[in-house]
Amino acid sequence: MTLLAVEGVTKTFGGLRALDNVSLAVDKGSVVGLMGANGAGKTTLFNLIAGNARPDSGNITFRNDAITGNKPERICRMGIARTFQIVRPFRSLTVRENVMIGARFGQNARGSRLTEVCRESIELAGLATMADKPAAALTLSGQKRLEVARALATGPDLLLLDEVMAGLTPAEVMSMLETLTSLRRNLGITLLVIEHVMRALMDLSDSIVVLHHGQVIASGTPDEIDRAPAVRAFYLGLES
Ligand SMILES: Nc1ncnc2c1ncn2[C@@H]1O[C@H](COP(=O)(O)OP(=O)(O)OP(=O)(O)O)[C@@H](O)[C@H]1O
Ligand SMILES: [Mg+2]
Repeated sequence: MTLLAVEGVTKTFGGLRALDNVSLAVDKGSVVGLMGANGAGKTTLFNLIAGNARPDSGNITFRNDAITGNKPERICRMGIARTFQIVRPFRSLTVRENVMIGARFGQNARGSRLTEVCRESIELAGLATMADKPAAALTLSGQKRLEVARALATGPDLLLLDEVMAGLTPAEVMSMLETLTSLRRNLGITLLVIEHVMRALMDLSDSIVVLHHGQVIASGTPDEIDRAPAVRAFYLGLES
C-alpha cells in the first residue's frame, strides 16, 4: 500500500529549478533511500513533504489524503515527522526537555503519557544514558540521535531522515543503522532516508530514488541503482 505519493512536484527559487516534476511513492512499512549530489534537491523535497515550503505545482498525498501546502504542525499530526540536516537543539536544555518540546508538536500525547512517549523515544534513539544531560554535552552522533528522538516522540507513521549519518565515524554509522533498522522492525515505521553514505543507504533501503539537478534520474532496488548507467555517470562520476 502506498503511504506517501509525490506526483509531478516542481519547486523553483528564482530562476533555479530545485525540483523539476518529481514523482515517487513510498510503500507502508518500507525504507526508501533518497540520494543525489549536493544541491540535487533532497532537502527541498523534505521541506515540501513536511509543509516547511509549498511546491509551485504537483501533488503530495499521505494515506490518499492531499497534504500539499498544509502547515507543518497539521502534517506532523497526521503522522509525518522529519529530522533536520542542520541540528539545532536547545543546548542548555536536557535531552529529555528537548524531546518534550518536539513531542508537543505531534499527534496525541498529553500529561503522563507525554512523559512516557518521550522516555520511549529517547530509549529507541539510543540516548537513554544521556536523557538528563544538557544537549550541549552531546557529540555530533548524539545530536543526530536527539533529532531522531524528537521526531519519534511526535508519533510518526512516516519518518523523514535528512542525513542522520553524515559526519559520523564508521562505527557510529553502523550503530545508527541498527537503530534505524529496529525502528522499522519493532515499530513498523516507514522511512524515507536522505544519505550520502552510500553503502549505508544501500544496506538500509528496499528501494532508492536518485535525484540529479532536481530530477529523478533513476529509481529501483539498491542492486539496480548500483548498476544504473545514469547513476554511475552522474552521481559517481564513473563511466558505465
Ligand atoms: N530557500 C531557498 N532559497 C533559494 N534557493 C534554495 C533554497 N533552498 C534550497 N535552495 C537551492 O535549491 C537547490 C537544492 O537545495 P537542497 O538543499 O534541496 O539540496 P540537497 O540535495 O539537500 O543538498 P545537500 O546534499 O547539500 O544537502 C540548491 O541549489 C539550493 O541552493
Ligand atoms: Mg540537504
